[in-house]
Amino acid sequence: MKIGIIGGSGLADFSELNVTDRIDHPTDWGEPSSPLICGTFDAPGCSGGAEVVFIARHGEAHTIPPHKVNYRANIAALKDQQVSAIYAVNVVGSLNMEMCPGDVVIPDQIVDYTWGREQTYSDSSSVELQHVDFTVPYDKKLMDNLLQHSIALGLHVHSGGVYGATQGPRLETAAEIERMGRDGCDIVGMTGMPEAALARELGVPYACMALVVNMAAGLCDGEISMDQIKQIIDSRMADIRRLLVAVTKGEE
Ligand code: HPA
Repeated sequence: MKIGIIGGSGLADFSELNVTDRIDHPTDWGEPSSPLICGTFDAPGCSGGAEVVFIARHGEAHTIPPHKVNYRANIAALKDQQVSAIYAVNVVGSLNMEMCPGDVVIPDQIVDYTWGREQTYSDSSSVELQHVDFTVPYDKKLMDNLLQHSIALGLHVHSGGVYGATQGPRLETAAEIERMGRDGCDIVGMTGMPEAALARELGVPYACMALVVNMAAGLCDGEISMDQIKQIIDSRMADIRRLLVAVTKGEE
């Protein structure tokens, strides 16, 4: 079994991976954000554990902003590698006072506020038009896997939540966050869409683990501090790495 992982801010490489291949993989939709890093989380020479195909969403040097990511190429490249599931890592702000910086949220719904992104494979006459069902945008089984392993690892995890996907790269105004709160959003990030919808179009089960790195605009004292965001990423991304290792090892 092969598992795709898309790493976001703070997860541009995977030192735990026993790398077996590094593939430059142009697609019909252009170049993915990074080479595909293939490997397993086992010690070299040991078998067992799913094969992993890793992409750094913002590029290996973290130079691609959220609105410039070629989401179509990333998902198409993973599909071409025949992954049977995609786990996406996203960092987010929180609108929900119970979801605090350092917590992990496994969202179950999305509100999409992005615009101008290439958001479908059905936009050329050579591709058959599809209206995919997206009632539940994430895969239930993958969400359950994430939840079980998060609990086993003792992470502070929230099962379910509405991910509001904003355009970025700027953060939101306080009024935008208030509106998103009225819309029912629990967390806010810039990379959740169209990634999830494209995975659905290609029929690849997809789930997200979102690391809360700040309270959203207007919900913290004063301005959002980039230093604090960095501190949370530095201190908590290790939890996400452990979670990914556990989840993919469980998928042998
Ligand atoms: N807003 C949007 N995206 C984010 C945030 C935020 O507050 N924090 C991390 N990614």
